[in-house]
Amino acid sequence: MLDHRARMESSRKEKVEQILSEFRLKEEDLKKVMYRMQKEMDRGLKLETHEEASVKMLPTYVRSTPEGSEVGDFLSLDLGGTNFRVMLVKVGEGEEGQWKVKTKHQMYSIPEDAMTGTAEMLFDYISECISDFLDKHQMKHKKLPLGFTFSFPVRHEDIDKDFEMDVVAMVNDTVATMISCYYEDHRCEVGMIVGTGCNACYMEEMHNVELVEGDEGRMCVNTEWGAFGASGELDEFLLEYDRVVDETSLNPGQQLYEKIIGGKYMGEIVRLVLLKLVDENLLFNGEASEKLKTRGTFETRFMSQIESDSDDRKQIYNILSAFELLPSRTDCEIVRRVCESVSTRAAQMCSAGLAGVINRMRESRSQDTLKITVGVDGSVYKLHPSFKDHFHATVRQLTPGCDITFIQSEEGSGRGAALISAVACKMACMMGQ
Ligand code: BGC
Repeated sequence: MLDHRARMESSRKEKVEQILSEFRLKEEDLKKVMYRMQKEMDRGLKLETHEEASVKMLPTYVRSTPEGSEVGDFLSLDLGGTNFRVMLVKVGEGEEGQWKVKTKHQMYSIPEDAMTGTAEMLFDYISECISDFLDKHQMKHKKLPLGFTFSFPVRHEDIDKDFEMDVVAMVNDTVATMISCYYEDHRCEVGMIVGTGCNACYMEEMHNVELVEGDEGRMCVNTEWGAFGASGELDEFLLEYDRVVDETSLNPGQQLYEKIIGGKYMGEIVRLVLLKLVDENLLFNGEASEKLKTRGTFETRFMSQIESDSDDRKQIYNILSAFELLPSRTDCEIVRRVCESVSTRAAQMCSAGLAGVINRMRESRSQDTLKITVGVDGSVYKLHPSFKDHFHATVRQLTPGCDITFIQSEEGSGRGAALISAVACKMACMMGQ
């Protein structure tokens, strides 16, 4: 009797594995995704194909100057409680290493209405001060390096909260992540978010950024890679669950790559797989609860909890009980396998994209080896127990000749960085760059 039961359970698990095998991606699949991503990136950068490309490759006006030329004039901005200081700092290279002198500086007091008004008002005021400073020192004509060369130690407690939020909204979060990590590690030339949504930015050679004039140095490009797939590039990899997620979403046919990876969708994919298994009589005795049948109830954070459960399966049991289900031990194991299949596929898909970016960077710099750092943020990357391990391993497997370091951006540091790049973008426009 027991033997029979054990055999039944094992055959049930086998059937489940059969269904989950669809989520497995081979190395050649990942390479296919990577090459297609690179092709779309290229089309997004080119003037001629930009409009029709699914990956938009938006210029951010955050620049870095050519190798070594970080030595030179820097604008340094310091925003305090009621004051705003602009400084021109000269940095040079001597025998003893780098030296730094403050050559010119000016303090501006921030008027009450700019401080308490909208973010836009304060932001405009800051830009006016910089403009005034550059005018006074006849530097408007000069192409001062922007973006990275801004140092902006923002004291968070001094700034109105709404202001911070608004500013973050002005600048893409991947760019803010890259900049905030750049302060820690100057090799950080890629920023990536794997949270509710998914996206990446990186430093592209200016001569490839056809939407912006000039060939010198590099500019940060916001890939908006989440939109990849809109021209059918992912069709052969999309499963029935992905199609349902897409069709029932607010933007059908769009952001298909992101819908495989992002925390906004992964839990829903898991829910649909669970329903399929119930339908096939492989889970919960063939019966789903009303809650499990309801769209959006299975949150992505449950996947993290389920996949980090210890052997006693208590956590899994509790989560499923809250779904008005009475899971057996095998049910708990199966649910965990479903979560693992969905999150591993997400990590691998995401790796293909990042490997595409990094291989492109190595090739366009004509380097045999590339040492690079990627700054990362986002709840899926940070909180999921195994996403990052799968992700790192697969990226490295797909990027021979590259030595990649991953660092996580610290909580909130993105805000200061966002402010820097927002000001940098505005200045770039003002100075006609
Ligand atoms: C947005 C990107 C953003 C990403 C990560 C996506 O949905 O389109 O602009 O960077 O989410 O937050």
